[in-house]
Amino acid sequence: MPSIREHCCGADRFFDRIKADKQYRQYLKKGARKATAALINQLSVLDINVKTLVDIGGGIGALQWWFLQQGGQRTIDIDASSGYLQIAREHAIRQGWQGKTDFLEGDCTEILPQLDEVDIVTLDKVICCYPDYREILAATCQKATTCIALTYPMDGPLAQAVRNLGVLFFKLRGNPFRPYVHRVAEVRQILAEHGFKRHQHQLVFPWHAETYLRES
Ligand SMILES: C[S@@+](CC[C@H](N)C(=O)[O-])C[C@H]1O[C@@H](n2cnc3c(N)ncnc32)[C@H](O)[C@@H]1O
Repeated sequence: MPSIREHCCGADRFFDRIKADKQYRQYLKKGARKATAALINQLSVLDINVKTLVDIGGGIGALQWWFLQQGGQRTIDIDASSGYLQIAREHAIRQGWQGKTDFLEGDCTEILPQLDEVDIVTLDKVICCYPDYREILAATCQKATTCIALTYPMDGPLAQAVRNLGVLFFKLRGNPFRPYVHRVAEVRQILAEHGFKRHQHQLVFPWHAETYLRES
């Protein structure tokens, strides 16, 4: 298993500026992708006004832009990819959101503990990029006062087979980044153990899109 530092360098190489540009152009034409749109739909039932959001592995920032448009007060994007962060920062500047947005580059498990609590933490297709998903979820649960929203892949033999192909793809390219398929039941159990109750769920093949609320 690659070290977290190797993993982040690999993520930075794979999620590069070219990929970010392409995805950003698609977003401008068609809006958020299906799984992201499902999360946005689930989050829409919450009162976003004057709330704060940490978007882990925020990519081009679609979730953050929706959040700020709905009256969100502040967003923090933590991403291992410098290319994605560049695109997101440029978009925020064009929208005049410099005072409401922060962009932090690096490993979320190192950065997250240094931040203040926020209302909502989102992980859209992120734990499948991370070897120690328990650590990432535990850190997330400590920072989110109200809600955690995440998408992650279905598990099972077919998902493992696709994952193995992904691993081969990265090995052949000499990139230490690896995709992961985590046990769905364990993801849910960890969130429950940290006091979060599943509020909404949708299967957007091959992703589970789920929103959890902190139990009072
Ligand atoms: C599959 S992309 C998803 C991007 C975006 N959330 C979306 O749904 O379009 C995974 C993102 O997680 C980021 N990432 C992976 N490992 C990370 C880590 N350890 N810390 C922070 N970000 C990470 C990658 O750089 C990438 O931006």
